[in-house]
Amino acid sequence: MKGKEVIVGVTGGIAAYKTAELVRLLVREDILVRVAMTFSATQFVTPLTFEALSGNRVVHDMFGQEGTVMDHIRWGQDSDLIIIAPATANFIGKMAHGIGDDFLSTCVIAATARILVCPSMNTRMFTNPAVQQNLELLRKRGVTVLEPGRGELACGTEGPGRLPEPEEIFEQASILLSGQDLSGLKILVTAGPTMEPIDPVRYITNRSSGKMGFAIARAAVRRGAEVILVSGPTSLQAPQGATFCPVKTAEDMERSVFENLTGCDIIIKAAAVSDYRPRECADQKIKKGPELLSLELVRNPDILTRLGETKKESPCILVGFAAETEDLLANAEKKLRSKNLDMIVANDVSRKDAGFETDTNMVKFIYRDGHVEDSPLMTKDDVAGLVLDRARALREAGLDRRSGN
Ligand code: PMT
Repeated sequence: MKGKEVIVGVTGGIAAYKTAELVRLLVREDILVRVAMTFSATQFVTPLTFEALSGNRVVHDMFGQEGTVMDHIRWGQDSDLIIIAPATANFIGKMAHGIGDDFLSTCVIAATARILVCPSMNTRMFTNPAVQQNLELLRKRGVTVLEPGRGELACGTEGPGRLPEPEEIFEQASILLSGQDLSGLKILVTAGPTMEPIDPVRYITNRSSGKMGFAIARAAVRRGAEVILVSGPTSLQAPQGATFCPVKTAEDMERSVFENLTGCDIIIKAAAVSDYRPRECADQKIKKGPELLSLELVRNPDILTRLGETKKESPCILVGFAAETEDLLANAEKKLRSKNLDMIVANDVSRKDAGFETDTNMVKFIYRDGHVEDSPLMTKDDVAGLVLDRARALREAGLDRRSGN
């Protein structure tokens, strides 16, 4: 999303304070953000707040000194997306009926950019048929309307009308800003560690935080794919729009993966699956006893190997990850072949800035023909984008081969 341009239109509702956080989230992604406010919005939050957060001047007066004469025309044509948050009943009405009586409303009329409207108001106002019909009109014209949340509102009533949290608006904006090049594809992603119980209070696990797998699932949703995320226990929130299947053990993960397999176009296994589990899980907490205590471990199923065995000539692209602390290339390539994968993402997990738990990663993409591609050190979000680009290219090449092109 780097380099995209977004206009954030703030109208006069109490939730305008939440929009400040939305602007921060957009700017953090290197998106150019311009803010326009209605006069009423400036009564809730000052333009200075948005100016400081966006790094750009804020326009709130059509005839003031803030902009140039044609900004109300240019803004909506130069940008990729306009987000109206919060959108009041009044502003929604003006949008639906083509009324332009201030900078923001004229900007929206002249806009060619996609528009995301985030209604926020008292429940009675929101459920009023006039407001609902206006929203329906906007939807029919291609405007995306984000449903408001339910709960206690600032006016003391309960019901729908709450501005969704900034993260939710940001997520929807990301979907609208991303190219939908994965639309129509079903992608299954595994993430996180597995937990193999020893007794009711102890287990064997590993350092996987789930960040890598969740980043892949999030990016795939944004790019239009139907996403199934099968994950071991993590502290992360499942990406909106993905079907989330939480699991604990390797056997649970195997079951969930095979239950969701039908119709998958791409499978990406970023999960760190425990290779062994205790032969038995004690019914009660194991008491402190002798100096030496042995645990008997048995091999877990290798999910990826099983997937590779069932793959044969199916068009499904199988991508594995390899977490290595030595001989990265040789060990990863061995896994690529023994598990019958199309590509393996080799991860040197001995680095401090890559692999487990970090927000960054540095990987090597290894292909069946022996070709190896290095990535620089990047955020896991950026690595996720590369993994999806490569998996998509492999799928298209496979389809071309099959059709004899
Ligand atoms: O979650 P993070 O903190 O963001 O960390 C990311 C990561 C380091 C976990 C990730 O980038 C990564 O490298 N994942 C693979 C970890 C791993 O288990 O690697 P492996 O070399 O042991 O396994 C190879 C492949 O076989 C993996 O795709 C794994 O999911 C799969 N496997 C392994 C064992 C098993 N019993 N079943 C499997 O399917």
